[in-house]
Amino acid sequence: MILSGRHSQSLAADLAARLDDPLAPVAFDRFPDGEVMASIGDVTPTGGERAVVVASTPTSDAHIELLQLQDAAREAGFEQVVTVIPYLGYARQDESFEPGEPVSARAVARAISTGADHILTIDPHETDVCDFFEPSATAVSAAGRLAEPLPDDLADPLFLSPDAGATGLAETVNEAVGSGTVDYFEKTRHSGTEVDVSPSDASVEGRDVVVVDDIIATGSTMSQAVEILHGGGANRVFVTCVHPLLAANAVTKLSRAGVDGIYGTDTIERPHSAVSAAPVIADALEERF
Ligand code: R5P
Repeated sequence: MILSGRHSQSLAADLAARLDDPLAPVAFDRFPDGEVMASIGDVTPTGGERAVVVASTPTSDAHIELLQLQDAAREAGFEQVVTVIPYLGYARQDESFEPGEPVSARAVARAISTGADHILTIDPHETDVCDFFEPSATAVSAAGRLAEPLPDDLADPLFLSPDAGATGLAETVNEAVGSGTVDYFEKTRHSGTEVDVSPSDASVEGRDVVVVDDIIATGSTMSQAVEILHGGGANRVFVTCVHPLLAANAVTKLSRAGVDGIYGTDTIERPHSAVSAAPVIADALEERF
């Protein structure tokens, strides 16, 4: 049975259809004091069943709801709980960067681990966060899916990552498209919203450029990249990512920079979620758990 988190309802429904599994009648409520309540309805496992909780955690409440869904599954009598976290929030705080800071990714991973037998996540910011879970989480990539919504008339495409760390994602999209070259920018982050992106050496004159990253959060990184690429004479500039967080005014920033298209998967369900990660998750569940 598939148990959907608040932020993964379409993805969970898609997954249930692909796996031919029932979809639990989950409900989400909020008490007058602000506390959240995620419940799974009157479901009774008939024996040997596993519950698959599918819940991205882009908000703090979503983390609590995920823990509640896991607990409700145990309470209902499911023998096995597999937790799929398409987008793992707090994963970018994977170390204590300043004295006194927590390793938030470790804190949430420990809490989630107490209620799950297996954990699967998609393109975490750093794969090492999987080791914070007990047992270690499995990470799979949905980057190959990002080729699907791109225009099929890309001219001499260049696939760029905004920093060296995301080059693998750009290479994956390049391979899935089947033509073009790959390069990367140099990025320096000054704060949560301030970044400096330095141009790559690749010539962009007259080319269609696809900038690929794991997350678009505030859109600062991508909007700078788009401006630089248009300044360098690029033809069209598309941005694509696995996790389209698109917080605050990210879409406005990108639009003002002159972006020609914004694409992401449904690990975070947004209007720009142009392709589903469900096939990747379905394959991983069938092959590994
Ligand atoms: C960080 O290194 C990530 O890969 C993304 O580049 C980052 O999260 C994007 O953040 P923003 O959209 O706020 O610039």
